[in-house]
Amino acid sequence: MKHLILAAAASCAVGVAAAATDCNKPQAAATPCDIESRVEATLSRLTLDEKLGQLWQCHWKTAKVAASEDASGLAISEKFLENARRGRFGSLIGKAGVEKYNAVQKAAMEGVGIPLLIGHDMIHSATTCYPIPLALSCAWDVDLWERIAAAMAPESIALGVNWTFTPMLDVALDARWGRIAEGGGADPLLTGLMGAALVRGFQGENLADGRHIAACAKHYVAYGAAQGGRDYNKVELADSTLRETYLPPFKKAVEAGCATIMPAFHSYNGIPCSANSYLLKDILRTEYGFDGMTISDYNAVLELIRHNVAADGAEAAALAINAGIDMEMVSSFFPDTLKDSIAKGIVDMKTVDDAVRNVLRTKYRLGLFDHPYIDEGEIKKGIDLAANRALAREAARKSCVLLKNNGILPLRRPAHIALLGDISGDAYQMLGCWSTKDLSNFENATLLEGLKADGADVAYTGLYTLTGRVDVAAVKAAIAGADIVIAGFGDYWENSGEGNSVARLELPGEQLKVAEAVKETGKPLVAVVFGGRPMAFPELAGMADAILYAWNPGGSGGWGLADVLTGISEPWGRLTTDMPRATGTCPQFYSRTITGREARYDAKFPNGRPYSSRYVDVPATALYPFGFGLAYTTFAYSNESATVDGDNVVFTLDVKNTGSRHGTEVVQVYVHDEVAKTVRPRRELKGFQRVALAPGETKKVEIAVPIDSLGYWVNGKYTLEPGFWTAWIAPDSDSGKPIHFEIAK
Ligand code: BGC
Repeated sequence: MKHLILAAAASCAVGVAAAATDCNKPQAAATPCDIESRVEATLSRLTLDEKLGQLWQCHWKTAKVAASEDASGLAISEKFLENARRGRFGSLIGKAGVEKYNAVQKAAMEGVGIPLLIGHDMIHSATTCYPIPLALSCAWDVDLWERIAAAMAPESIALGVNWTFTPMLDVALDARWGRIAEGGGADPLLTGLMGAALVRGFQGENLADGRHIAACAKHYVAYGAAQGGRDYNKVELADSTLRETYLPPFKKAVEAGCATIMPAFHSYNGIPCSANSYLLKDILRTEYGFDGMTISDYNAVLELIRHNVAADGAEAAALAINAGIDMEMVSSFFPDTLKDSIAKGIVDMKTVDDAVRNVLRTKYRLGLFDHPYIDEGEIKKGIDLAANRALAREAARKSCVLLKNNGILPLRRPAHIALLGDISGDAYQMLGCWSTKDLSNFENATLLEGLKADGADVAYTGLYTLTGRVDVAAVKAAIAGADIVIAGFGDYWENSGEGNSVARLELPGEQLKVAEAVKETGKPLVAVVFGGRPMAFPELAGMADAILYAWNPGGSGGWGLADVLTGISEPWGRLTTDMPRATGTCPQFYSRTITGREARYDAKFPNGRPYSSRYVDVPATALYPFGFGLAYTTFAYSNESATVDGDNVVFTLDVKNTGSRHGTEVVQVYVHDEVAKTVRPRRELKGFQRVALAPGETKKVEIAVPIDSLGYWVNGKYTLEPGFWTAWIAPDSDSGKPIHFEIAK
């Protein structure tokens, strides 16, 4: 549906100028052709200053436009309103609240007559706080992702926001990188599916219906490949890797109709993404046909000076707009310098006009010209907070991943549980890196509250922090009367997210002493591991009887985790990254390219045989691989086959629930091209399906994979050759029986 609209918009853009006369009048339902003619009509009446204003996203706190600040820190003075009237800015960044939103829109509408985009990072939290995106990706659940975004859209509008800077589509292969928390994990297919679902959820079928907001796919592109996993660091990549690993999710977002795109902070092969016309024009506009709007990241135009590719603001602005940036976020070199650069012939008027067109088109697509104001009562009527909290609880239970279970879970009753660790009783630590952090908004469901609510007999002692010392005697005393110990491990969410890369993925502080102490008493230990990234915990994995990886589960997180621990819900999550054994194996990802000397592990050489691609001191394999996650039952795979049928390879198998509880398996299809022109990944995920099975039940599963998704890039060309492939229909990226299929000439 969306692509049809975009295609139509592109094809009717030419030749509509003649029909432009009535275009400033509100129109009931704007067709794409109406939009193009209205864009042209609006553009034609703007002065150059007004045009440049449209290209600037100013911060609510920016002194240039704000004379005073109120308690919330969002300024709204007469000077500010006057600047809105004069069209000095086309957008604001930050949550405004409906009153301020409407006041500033009124000023803009009564003055320059162009509504403002109010952008903010509504990423996993608006009024309701969901798990962080990396956690959500572990649900492998397109419908869940779309429902969450659809629930967040009206909540965002009620907070005075009409544009969100999400989805974050950076495939992240390195757990050291703090921003791994914000995206869909290590796989381009999954990240793309999640991104497209979020775009559909936020933007809806009709972006202009007043209940949806514009999405922004970011950070374009390959930001997750920052060297050393260090945020903002340079990225150097082969073009084929860019196209096979990093671009596909962005292509999916464009196909889903994503309204806007934000380039990343880093330099890509020597050129910052915000000045990179290869990425922004050749690929995004020309190849993908993107006709929405691009916005630089926060001060990224200013950072062109800091990157030493521009001598001053004028040069930075010229570089950025000439490369394909339409709107500048926060720094103000577009409005301050472009007039002069046009006069000097450094920037063409057409370049500015095209950027303004992209901004106006986005505003028309959002329907802002026709309904610029928010009717708070109306929007709130449509928000069911209780239902959204239930959705957040569902998301929390579907996002956590059961990594180990020697039979201790689900918790049996009666059992007296000792719950340990500051994080197990800390509501704030459930939230995650892009939450609003305002506890008054959320359910504040700690693990403790969740277990109590689910009827567990639980005694809580904070006893230790994740980063501090552990009093072993106190741990033993606290658990003396318990049948089972549940303890919180991992890291605090403040150590993940933007700018928060780490050099150590091992558990900080003395947490392992807790596990050792419990082990010494012989009592069963259930480890609940929190964190915004994968961590390296082989020792804990050896000691704990069960491990539930909780991520940052959000404001209703404690309920969701307890639902899984108590068995009210089945474990649903599967990893979307590898869990490494040590920091030094990073980047650690299932789809690494094979070598001429693949490591072989045997009893004599458990870390791999000499002269192979190994580490001497630790196996280079994942502790828990991509795709892995246990249920409370077991599954058996049989009769795996792959058959070419028309345009697809159809993978079939029988899956049986061999345990005594209901369970849902995630059947995954991986392929490897046996002989190719370039060295291929050891495995690539090409499809998956969830299968719900009653105890003893067997189901036939069929997963169709389009043949044209099996190709790869050589010398700038997408290539698909006839030949043989190995495939695995498997529960994770390390297991499964290899089968083979042939794509004939
Ligand atoms: C981040 C973006 C975010 C922007 C606006 C930047 O620092 O990189 O992801 O959308 O700030 O908050």
